[in-house]
Amino acid sequence: MKILVTGGAGFIGANFVRTTVRDRPGVNVTVLDALTYAGSRQSLADIETSIEFVEGDITDAGLVNVLVSESDAVVHFAAESHNDNSLKDPRPFLQTNIIGTYTLLEAVRKHCVRYHHISTDEVYGDLALDDPAKFTVNTPYNPSSPYSATKAASDMLVRAWVRSFGIQATLSNCSNNYGPYQHIEKFIPRQITNILSGARPKVYGAGQNVRDWIHVDDHNAAVWRILDSGELGRTYLIGADGELDNVSVVGLILELMGKESHDFDYVNDRSGHDLRYAIDSSTLRDELGWEPQYTTFREGLRATIDWYETNREWWEGDKNSVEARYKAQGA
Ligand code: NAD
Ligand code: TYD
Repeated sequence: MKILVTGGAGFIGANFVRTTVRDRPGVNVTVLDALTYAGSRQSLADIETSIEFVEGDITDAGLVNVLVSESDAVVHFAAESHNDNSLKDPRPFLQTNIIGTYTLLEAVRKHCVRYHHISTDEVYGDLALDDPAKFTVNTPYNPSSPYSATKAASDMLVRAWVRSFGIQATLSNCSNNYGPYQHIEKFIPRQITNILSGARPKVYGAGQNVRDWIHVDDHNAAVWRILDSGELGRTYLIGADGELDNVSVVGLILELMGKESHDFDYVNDRSGHDLRYAIDSSTLRDELGWEPQYTTFREGLRATIDWYETNREWWEGDKNSVEARYKAQGA
C-alpha cells in the first residue's frame, strides 16, 4: 500500500508518519509538505531513508495530480493550523485549507483514490462551561475564527465531493492534541519551553477556557482505525474525554516542572476566544473499537515535558521569534 501524507512535516502528520513507519512495514509513505514555518524536516530526520519526501504545495495541481495518481490513499493533514495567526492574516488559511483541499479532492476524484480528511472539533464553535452537551456529528457547524471557518469550509467540500462525485472519503474531527514535535506557538509547548527558557507561562484572559486534550498517538491510532475499517462517506469524532481548563493545564505543567502552580502571568485574551470544546467519541469507540491508550493526562504531559527538555535543538532556534510575535500582541 502506498499512502500520500500531506503535512507530514507538521506536528500530527510527523507523528503519524513516524508511527506508520514503525508499525506498518508494508506501507510506503510519501510526504508532501511545503515546509512552512510550521513544518520541520528535522521531525523526520531519523526516518528519512524509510520514506519519500516531496517539498511542495498542496495548491500545486500539477504536482498533486502526479503524486495522487501514484498513491492508493491520501491522508490530508496539511493546513494553516493556528487560530492566533488566522486573526492576524487569514489569507494563507483560505489558500491552504480551502484551495489546497479542493486541489486534493479533484485529484482523488480523477484517479479514484481513497481519501481521509483530517479536521478539528473547532468547526462546531464552542459550548458553555456548564453545558452537559458534547459535540456529536449532528452538532451544527458554527465556526468562530478564520482558522475554524476555513476548516469547516474544507469539510463541506469533502462532503460535497462524496455526494456529487462519489469519491471514497472519510472525515475525522479531533479535539486538541498534545505530544512531541508540536510547534512552540501552541499552548502546551509554549508554556513548557517558557519554563525551560526561564520565562513564565502566559495564560490568555481569565484562563477558564476548556480544551478536550488527546495525545497525538491516540489521534493517529484512530485515523488508522478509520482507514482500515471506517465506512466511506462517514465522519468520525475523535476525543479522549480530556476536558481541562487552561489554568489547570498550566498548573500541572508547573507542578511537573518543579515550580509553584501560581507561577504564571495572565495576558491579553484572544479575540473571539472559544470557551469550551468537548467531544463525544462514542461512535468511534462503539463501532470501530478504538480507545485511547493515554488514559492519564498527567503521564502524557510528563512524557511531553521530557521530550522538549531532551530535544532543545528542535525548538530553541524558533523561541525568540515566536515570543517576539506574541509580545507584539500583548500575549
Ligand atoms: P501544523 O501546523 O503543526 O502542521 C501543518 C503542516 O502542513 C506543516 O508541516 C506545514 O509545512 C504544512 N503545510 C502548510 N501549508 C501547506 C501547503 N500549502 N502545502 C503543503 N504543506 C503545507 O499542524 P498540526 O497541528 O499538525 O495539524 C494537522 C492537521 O490536524 C490540520 O489539518 C489541523 O487542522 C488538524 N487538527 C489539529 C489539531 C491540533 O490540536 N493541533 C486538532 C484537530 C485537528
Ligand atoms: P492553542 O494551542 O492555540 O489551540 P486552540 O486555539 O486550537 O484551542 O490554545 C489552546 C488554549 O490555550 C486556548 O484556549 C488558548 C489558550 N492559550 C493561552 O492561554 N496561552 C497561550 O500562550 C496560547 C498559545 C494559548
